[in-house]
Amino acid sequence: MKFFLDTADVSAIKTINELGVVDGVTTNPTIISREARDIAKWADNIVVKIPMTMEGLKAVNVLSKENIKTNVTLIFTVSQGLMAIKAGAAFISPFVGRLEDIGTDAYQLISDLREIIDFYGFDTEIIAASIRNTVHVENVAKRGAHIATIPDAVFDKMTKHPLTTSGIKNFTKDWETFKNKVE
Ligand code: E4P
Repeated sequence: MKFFLDTADVSAIKTINELGVVDGVTTNPTIISREARDIAKWADNIVVKIPMTMEGLKAVNVLSKENIKTNVTLIFTVSQGLMAIKAGAAFISPFVGRLEDIGTDAYQLISDLREIIDFYGFDTEIIAASIRNTVHVENVAKRGAHIATIPDAVFDKMTKHPLTTSGIKNFTKDWETFKNKVE
């Protein structure tokens, strides 16, 4: 499973990148099809984010034939995901937090999309987006998301637990006591 960092903050990218766990970065611009080719020229690993609309799918179809990778964003249903996959999207981004906001099971959507991709052997990868807490990351990992795009604050929380903090404190205290005894 890959982790992307969901931010446009360069200093957060530098900080989290030092952990050695980040495979990519996502940002959140509104991209229209006529701008897509220029954006793809910025670097050879750029993926163009396209909104899930009829016009967006037309752009995905054209760009995929030119070997320009696209990420179809704002996916909320299996049908939307399937349409983006069929149009040639390299990535699809179902929005976990926003589905949870409206009381819909986002994890079932991730599982269903993964099942379809594997069943038919599609190349499209699922980027679980709208990740807002560590439980979201854990659940999308279990449901087969190829990638989770994670805000830097959530990355930070993924390294922490109160028992880790108190454990380090106790080990440090015990080490000091031991050193004082042997000195
Ligand atoms: C990333 O590509 C999405 O735009 C982002 O994860 C949305 O997160 P939000 O639903 O918390 O705004």
